[in-house]
Amino acid sequence: MQFFIDTADVEEIRQANDMGLVDGVTTNPSLIAKTGRPFKQVIHDICEIVDGPISAEAVSLTYDEMLAEARDLAKIHENIVVKIPLVADGLKCVRTCTAEGIKTNVTLCFSATQALLAAKAGATYISPFVGRLDDISYQGMDLIGEILEIYSSYDFDTQVLVASIRSPLHVLESARMGAHVATIPLKVMLQLVKHPLTDRGIEAFMKDWEKVPT
Ligand code: E4P
Repeated sequence: MQFFIDTADVEEIRQANDMGLVDGVTTNPSLIAKTGRPFKQVIHDICEIVDGPISAEAVSLTYDEMLAEARDLAKIHENIVVKIPLVADGLKCVRTCTAEGIKTNVTLCFSATQALLAAKAGATYISPFVGRLDDISYQGMDLIGEILEIYSSYDFDTQVLVASIRSPLHVLESARMGAHVATIPLKVMLQLVKHPLTDRGIEAFMKDWEKVPT
């Protein structure tokens, strides 16, 4: 399973990338706003750090405007993947982008049938938001299972990118289910590293090491 980091903060991206944990990056308008920096500048900086797919989201809602944005974003770097919301004009835009060789990440997916439509439109990635489903008392990871099951019956190229990850368990279940990608916030990546028995083991080894004669 590929690991993308879900942030627009370049320092966070550097930190995770230095540990070899970053195959790609996802951003969204809220994450960009948090940086307080201009959108294209942030995306450009991220492309300098990570050599992998970098999702940059289109913010228009009509086909013509979305497509113009997608073409413009794709020019920033060859690794750009244009994030497009799962609405009717978005699917139309995905179809055109795919025909033009522009990679797409269809975002804000909350049902398996939406994911089926994205795959039929030719999306490179589908982003089901598991955390936001958990927030409304629906098992977000069930959706991942449903999408993987449907995709496995057909010849789609679309990759399942598990998004809105909030905990290490989301990552564990994504990997067990065989999701193609998980986009993970730095906080959760660091939680994955930690184990109390590792810390206790290091402490015991250090104490014993003091007893070794020099
Ligand atoms: C990534 O592609 C999504 O925009 C992101 O994972 C959403 O996460 P959130 O639900 O925690 O905002």
